[in-house]
Amino acid sequence: MTSARVLLHEETLEPSFLPPRLVRRDAELSLLLRRYRDGLGKGVPFHLLLTGGIGSGKTALARRLGADLERGGRLGDAPVRATYINCWRRASDRTVMLDLLRSVDVSLPDRGYSLSEMMDVFEQGIRRAPAHRLVLLDEASALVRGETKLVYLLSRSREVELGSISLVLIASEDLFRYLDPASRSSFGVTHRLALAPYDGDALTEILLARSELALRRGSFDREVLSQIARIAGPNGDARFALEMLLNAARIADDEGADSLGAEHVRRAKGSLLPTVTESHLEELSTHELGVLLALSRSLKGKGASVPSQKLRAAHTALLEELGGAAMSRTTFWRTLKELERDGLVVLEATGSGESSRVAMDELPASLLATLLEERLSATRAQKT
Ligand SMILES: Nc1ncnc2c1ncn2[C@@H]1O[C@H](COP(=O)(O)OP(=O)(O)OP(=O)(O)O)[C@@H](O)[C@H]1O
Ligand SMILES: [Mg+2]
Repeated sequence: MTSARVLLHEETLEPSFLPPRLVRRDAELSLLLRRYRDGLGKGVPFHLLLTGGIGSGKTALARRLGADLERGGRLGDAPVRATYINCWRRASDRTVMLDLLRSVDVSLPDRGYSLSEMMDVFEQGIRRAPAHRLVLLDEASALVRGETKLVYLLSRSREVELGSISLVLIASEDLFRYLDPASRSSFGVTHRLALAPYDGDALTEILLARSELALRRGSFDREVLSQIARIAGPNGDARFALEMLLNAARIADDEGADSLGAEHVRRAKGSLLPTVTESHLEELSTHELGVLLALSRSLKGKGASVPSQKLRAAHTALLEELGGAAMSRTTFWRTLKELERDGLVVLEATGSGESSRVAMDELPASLLATLLEERLSATRAQKT
């Protein structure tokens, strides 16, 4: 006899799924809804800087805000139209602008137009369908740290006669200090919201709410979910917790189990990030592993990137701690370049090469640290 499956609606655990209700973020959501409705109702755009650690629900909250404002109907004289743009791989004004143009149903070839020409076309598009535009720029760090003019232009939509455009800038680090003085005036203290990391309890509630959508009723209990929350806990990363839930449910189904158990969770933990653990980590040199570990430690719970000098200092300290020989600056840089070529880190130039920043946004730093520490101690054990 085959048992009923555990995982019934896998798509509701995918990162792209926007949950209808956000657990433990009601206060933040209603505050933001109120601010936007008050502003837009009077015809005044509202701008927001939304920050918080990895997996703290920034993207979910921003998209929920956009969807709820759209659903709420007209504010003052116009409806709300939200446009979500992830700027991670489109960190230039022009590439973001192309997406904005698409949101007003214009598609331009990505060459041959200046930013101001694109702005003109955008303005025509907006005029054809008057609305309060809510522009959600996610992963906006690189964009804002670069020489963006777009943020300024959009935050001054009234003055530059673009109609009503409200901005939400989303990042894991505080972007205020990177804004030019003219844009800063649009992001005063009431325009900044920093999401606190989820604690174990909140993660359990989130897992519970999402399990109710995704899993068969009766196939999970609070205890197994709090086990997942405990593992994902230290960084309050809901993304990691949900990924583990999805994997554990798949493992339970592969096994034909009729409910999710602690052993499935343990195996899910071991099998997470298979691309990194199995193929990449095996092939990496000890140099590369050391630099990655120093990087994951420097990134733990902090921003999405660190200055390379800081990373080098952390790496030197790590080598001392492990009793390894110091690494020359040249070797350090070569190793970083190799990691970049492997797609494991991103080097962001900030002028001269020496002052670049190193980012590793794709992987939960906490998990990587654990994996690398295990691997390094195995290597050490083999040597002795
Ligand atoms: N309060 C919540 N209730 C239900 N699900 C949530 C909640 N917060 C986050 N999630 C879910 O957790 C996952 C991670 O959240 P989200 O992507 O919004 O985090 P983030 O802060 O944008 O992370 P990152 O910095 O990596 O971009 C998503 O699948 C999201 O739907
Ligand atoms: Mg996000």
